Amino acid sequence: MDFTRDDFPEGFVFGAATAAYQIEGHRFGGAGPTHWDSFAKGPGNVVRAEDGATACDHYHRFEEDLDLLKAGGFDAYRFSTSWARVMPDGRTVNPEGLDFYDRLVDATLERGLKPFQTLYHWELPSALADRGGWANGDTALAFADFSETISARIGDRVASTATINEPWCVAWLSHFLGHHAPGLRDIRAAARAMHHILLAHGLAVERLRGMGRDALGIVLNFERALPASESAADAAAAALQDQIYNRWFLEAIAHGRYPEDAIAGLAPHMPEGWQDDMALISQPIDWLGVNYYTRSLIRSAPETPWPALAPVEGPLPKTQMGWEIHPEGLHHFLLRARDALDLPVYVTENGMAWDDSLRAGVVEDTERQRFMADHIAAARRAIADGVDLRGFFYWSLLDNYEWAFGYEKRFGLVHVDFETLERTPKASYHALAAALSR
Ligand code: FCB
Repeated sequence: MDFTRDDFPEGFVFGAATAAYQIEGHRFGGAGPTHWDSFAKGPGNVVRAEDGATACDHYHRFEEDLDLLKAGGFDAYRFSTSWARVMPDGRTVNPEGLDFYDRLVDATLERGLKPFQTLYHWELPSALADRGGWANGDTALAFADFSETISARIGDRVASTATINEPWCVAWLSHFLGHHAPGLRDIRAAARAMHHILLAHGLAVERLRGMGRDALGIVLNFERALPASESAADAAAAALQDQIYNRWFLEAIAHGRYPEDAIAGLAPHMPEGWQDDMALISQPIDWLGVNYYTRSLIRSAPETPWPALAPVEGPLPKTQMGWEIHPEGLHHFLLRARDALDLPVYVTENGMAWDDSLRAGVVEDTERQRFMADHIAAARRAIADGVDLRGFFYWSLLDNYEWAFGYEKRFGLVHVDFETLERTPKASYHALAAALSR
């Protein structure tokens, strides 16, 4: 890795990220069922129908995992606090769940690591999914209650709190494209989820501010949408994709509005009175999280319903996910974030999956090292261009449950054997540790 800490501003935070359902082992500690448990049981939804029941058993091994962060010289740990663990039916407190996060935060601090909490990283309690989940505005109200409950327990010790991880995935990917739980392909549910997930953010920020909490933010995922050809139709399709994927969330948070063509398409399906929520949604926050992985090439697809667009395969080298490697996109979005919001920014996720193999105790993931070096270089260019970038979190600390891809896709700095649950730091972990120690 061709950088040292001196290449970054004073106090710049290097961390690694995880999420509760992907690592903890959901069957432990009295957590309630989530929509991911049932989605995984539907035909063809998840590779090998795998779920997060055991995952990495971080629930019992979190001290070992935090030791890895400390030994690697990291500054921070980004984790999420599962709603279904804290409130198994979405409303009633499970004391064991609160105790777990209390221990986790203390153990993080004991190792000199800053705890970066995310409130919602996708494990919606099934009891709320039964009532329509994010298509139902009441879920946003229940989320504010959950936010208050968990913050009352650990909010005095976390360094930062994100409300929602990747609202595009929560809403569009899950309710319109059907790839994530609850697996709907329903424009009405999608439009409602696109709004209610932001309403949940606004209500949670309001509630936490009322408790005196600070360092509040949201984590948005961005994907460059470029036209697949030089035709005007493809240019328009890519621009619409950019509105739905990127601008919808950024402009709602920054300016309290939805982009014109996207809202024109979704307006017939939006919850009544949505306009009245926009001030709450755009209330001040303290930082913005940027998750960035790839770009997409978009073509016009008039054979499909609105938004009548489709991705096409691009020519760039790809990761194990089939995602094109395009570090310039990270620079692009950090500048867009700066232009939209005059706020500190964090790269809250960036990383790649690779078909890693463990041979004689070693994982030689040179592709991942190159990926990281190129994206960290893009982040440095953004800092040079005036972005107030405060930190960079690699996704992920551990190989884990990669949602619809089950355990097949490996994003970790640390290899996990899902039979024995043994952890083995990969070459990328050692390379990053070496850079951080210089
Ligand atoms: C992001 C998610 C994270 C992980 C990575 C690969 O969209 O936030 O949980 O799945 O992608």
